[in-house]
Amino acid sequence: MLSAKDNELITRVGPGTPMGDLMRQYWVPACLSSELPKPDGDPLRVLLLGERLVAFRDTEGRVGLMPHQCPHKKASLFYGRNEEGGLRCVFHGWKFDVAGRCMDMPNEPPERGFKDKLRAKAYPCVERAGLVWTYMGPRETPPPMPALEVFDANPRDTTLMAYQVECNWLQAFENDLDITHFGFLHGGHSEAEQLPEGSALRELMRDRAPRYEVLDTAAGVMSGSYRTMPGGTMKSWYLQNYLFPFFGQTGVGIGIGEKVASGWTQKAAGITMKVPMDDTHTMAFVIASGLAATTEDGSREFYNDEMWRSLPLRPNTTDWLGRFRWIDGEHNDYGIDRDKQRSRVTFTGLSNVILEDTCMSESMDPIVDRTDEHLGVADLFHIRIRQRLIAAAKALADHGAVPPGVDNPDGYLIRPGFLELPADLTIVDAAETLRVGDGGAHMPELAPKPWAREDA
Ligand SMILES: [Fe+2]
Repeated sequence: MLSAKDNELITRVGPGTPMGDLMRQYWVPACLSSELPKPDGDPLRVLLLGERLVAFRDTEGRVGLMPHQCPHKKASLFYGRNEEGGLRCVFHGWKFDVAGRCMDMPNEPPERGFKDKLRAKAYPCVERAGLVWTYMGPRETPPPMPALEVFDANPRDTTLMAYQVECNWLQAFENDLDITHFGFLHGGHSEAEQLPEGSALRELMRDRAPRYEVLDTAAGVMSGSYRTMPGGTMKSWYLQNYLFPFFGQTGVGIGIGEKVASGWTQKAAGITMKVPMDDTHTMAFVIASGLAATTEDGSREFYNDEMWRSLPLRPNTTDWLGRFRWIDGEHNDYGIDRDKQRSRVTFTGLSNVILEDTCMSESMDPIVDRTDEHLGVADLFHIRIRQRLIAAAKALADHGAVPPGVDNPDGYLIRPGFLELPADLTIVDAAETLRVGDGGAHMPELAPKPWAREDA
């Protein structure tokens, strides 16, 4: 439960709001690189953190992102000509490059030098992992990019996907990291015994009410849900990460399919991002990774690849909300098939796992009223994430405190996962086991454990 005031604070993301200011401290994904397929191609409308922007790829292939209104008389640059190194407003021919410099002002006498005095607002962009990332914050020199493991992954080991959720970012985001919904929304129709022996999936279904621990990390919060295994000497752990401001590692990589030991190779920790378009629309970007396995004939197989690649979405249109929308939605009850629900073909009667998540998020109203929700211990992760978000937004607003992770890119070098450990170990031990590389995730609170060193 949140007070009405805190709920307002945590959900509103426009310019000048505390949460909007917090998010603007970070690099955020704006669109897919493939939405700007070629130099001098069509400009793209991008609605991001409540700002109406236009993106374009210039003659040299650089990406520009700026408020869509020309600084002259506020006509939309979306209708502009993308040519010869910049975007030219078709109203009076004013032209801007990716950095916002005015390259041409053909309706003003050149001797006045007005062109050189004007600078359009432009957000710096870089392209990583198939996404255009931008920094919309106040710093002259942007902070470092987060050291996400997927940035270094071979693109053939990852699957990139986008879909829109028509509601506030926080409810869409929390549902990604909701630990126990998997056993109901996505798996309520299956029995543990039907699932592969030793798989994480079987373990998740064997006991649908696990126990929980949460741990603050350098750039977020880690959640561990654990189950005591038959015999009592081992526990299975399912670890997920929240990373500021809206990144989640749900363990879709190694967690859901098979555990690491069974041949599925973890290439890199995948990541989900719930990026606010405005207060009531969210763009989900997912880089699914760590799904690769080499089959007996030497070819490579990707767990759940088809599901990610074939989301039933409408073709994109150019309007502000026209990108990556589902075919199904509230207008047709998300295509629910009551017979399939009744006969337990699936638990929901919906056709797609991600659509199930979207349906739940959107059904909560555009912005959830959290003053009368009833959270249990299974929601410990959400509670801690909200506490940290609200504290960070207030600290930034009150005394300019730099939020977690902004100047600590290595805080993002962290993994989710599923593993089995001796029953007396804790979430700290479990987290330590999933450290990335030699240096590991930068979590000084996680002192190496003797058993982990021996194991390594
Ligand atoms: Fe889900």
